[in-house]
Amino acid sequence: MSLQEQIKSTIRDINDYPKAGIVFKDITPVLATPKLVKAIASELRAQFENEKIDAIAATEARGFIFGSILALELGCAFIPIRKKGKLPYATRSQEYQLEYGTASVEIHTDAVKPGARVLIHDDLLATGGTAGAAADLIKSFDGVVAGFSFIINLSFLPGEENLMQRYGVKPHYLV
Ligand code: PRP
Ligand code: ADE
Repeated sequence: MSLQEQIKSTIRDINDYPKAGIVFKDITPVLATPKLVKAIASELRAQFENEKIDAIAATEARGFIFGSILALELGCAFIPIRKKGKLPYATRSQEYQLEYGTASVEIHTDAVKPGARVLIHDDLLATGGTAGAAADLIKSFDGVVAGFSFIINLSFLPGEENLMQRYGVKPHYLV
């Protein structure tokens, strides 16, 4: 079975979570399968190891999981982007819309050096609101959005198109 087939067959679909009409892509069965986690880590590394990446920025909570693994694989820094009120030092905020609501994320004001090439990672691309908010934060410090990396793309939603239009970068995703 290909890596894509293994990922697809391991993700669990939860109907009507967190709201009626949403099919929630639950990655916890993937996390419970260490061989698959290793294979995903290798694939993510292969996608980006020849690109100059200074840091991975990822949004909590699910983005932290493979985002940290990817930073370790690439030997680069990890920049946490967190939900409002969770980061202890001085922060900058960005509001955004989700498939199922609105939210706001924050980054530490010293996290991005001007000119740093930052790859944005998250587990899943839906509308692109979260990744877009992360990209806007990176750009607001004169960082360079080096790319977008996801495990899952919900292809029936316009996230890929939205990110390409707004940032001129084609997002990478595994399934
Ligand atoms: C989920 C997912 C992405 C985002 C994708 O996070 O992990 O971050 O939604 O949706 P979008 O492309 O429409 O922005 P969620 O906000 O549910 O938080 P969690 O990771 O803490 O579960
Ligand atoms: N984030 C936004 N939409 C989602 C979905 N359908 N499943 C899991 N995470 C999500």
